[in-house]
Amino acid sequence: MTMTNAESYASIAARERHVPRGVANTHAIFVDRAEGTRIWDVDGKEYLDFTSGIGVLNTGHRHPHVVRAVREQLDRLMHTCFQVTMYEPYVELAARLCALVGGAHKAVLFTTGAEGIENAVKIARAYTKRSGVVAFSGGFHGRSFLALTMTASSPAYRQNFGPFAADVYHSPFPDEYHGWTTDRAIDALDELFSTEVMPEQVAAVVIEPELGEGGFIPAPAAFLQRLRAITQRHGIVLVADEVQSGFGRTGRMFGYQHAAIEPDLVVMAKSLAAGMPLSAVVGKAPIMDAPLPGGLGGTYGGNPLACASALAVLDVFETEGLAARGAVIGDQLRGALLSLQTRVPAIGDVRGLGAMLAIELVADPATKAPDAELAQRIIDAARDRGLLLLKCGPHKNVVRLLPPLTASPEEVTSGAARLEAAVLAASA
Ligand SMILES: Cc1ncc(COP(=O)(O)O)c(C=O)c1O
Repeated sequence: MTMTNAESYASIAARERHVPRGVANTHAIFVDRAEGTRIWDVDGKEYLDFTSGIGVLNTGHRHPHVVRAVREQLDRLMHTCFQVTMYEPYVELAARLCALVGGAHKAVLFTTGAEGIENAVKIARAYTKRSGVVAFSGGFHGRSFLALTMTASSPAYRQNFGPFAADVYHSPFPDEYHGWTTDRAIDALDELFSTEVMPEQVAAVVIEPELGEGGFIPAPAAFLQRLRAITQRHGIVLVADEVQSGFGRTGRMFGYQHAAIEPDLVVMAKSLAAGMPLSAVVGKAPIMDAPLPGGLGGTYGGNPLACASALAVLDVFETEGLAARGAVIGDQLRGALLSLQTRVPAIGDVRGLGAMLAIELVADPATKAPDAELAQRIIDAARDRGLLLLKCGPHKNVVRLLPPLTASPEEVTSGAARLEAAVLAASA
């Protein structure tokens, strides 16, 4: 962690004294306030926030409609625990999420993405009466034990935390830039089924339609379609982890929609509630109803404030057409990145759906050897220019862009210009 300026020093020193190093910080700044696409640190410096709190703020920081809805809810009811006494925002949100996914669905609410993933697996196991779970290399599904076992995007997440959960398998994610074509990845899944676990013992296949932490790699539509056919053939529950790719980020409401498939269960979190802790599992009613009463829930799951926030987020998506805006922002940024790539050979790949975009930095475009140091220099140079970015990828050599979908065209242009200046300065 490098320090940005003297004013923050006291806070950073206190943080190092009282907070363990296991919680790593990308940016050594303390944020004072935020609005829309902008945040201000405690020293008064303004930044364009192209991290959105890791994809949580697709509606921007403190959208007025969201703030108003949470305030109104705060004045009425903060908590009962839905399992104890019910409240309408939970049911209203469940109904709206089911309508978004379509079909005869049901929805259950939790607090974090990891909790959503774990519950999706529980539901799939209850429904199929099988235990196996297949996830993908490069996938990130959270930090609690089952979710962590499914996570395979970096050894830093798993380190020496084992033993991990049983009966979880990994198959290669289709990553064309690194030679994993759809055919090859499907062959590898077949191989897994013929060498390690029989498909008849697999309850769920869980996939991010576009890898998040794993490097912003979209799964080709053909891969998702073949995966849907394979899971259907074997009675396996297909779970779309839309925690990062959901809510307009890819230019559609959900990433799987690019492949025109119907997953059995969809896990949502992050931008669902614009910063209030909320996640959801939405899925086909017979599957969702497999666990017996008492099998699902949690003290805080579907907290009233978080539900009010999510209902307001859904309003904003409708009134401001934010999913379509994700596609427009994506086109604008992709154009800027592709033009930059023609001048900077270290940008080995420009990729992503909609506004879920990234550049992969390589030491040599021929070998595609990762250049994590260059990625870090770009992040630091961008921050110096008032633009906050994040890394990702197993080798930490991918710079990802997650601007709010409410960002104005001027903010997107300004962010792209700052990124360009940072890339040129860092790669000079
Ligand atoms: C795709 C995906 N799934 C699951 C998670 C876990 O969510 P949470 O950190 O809220 O537990 C994340 C978090 O980054 C994610 O990106």
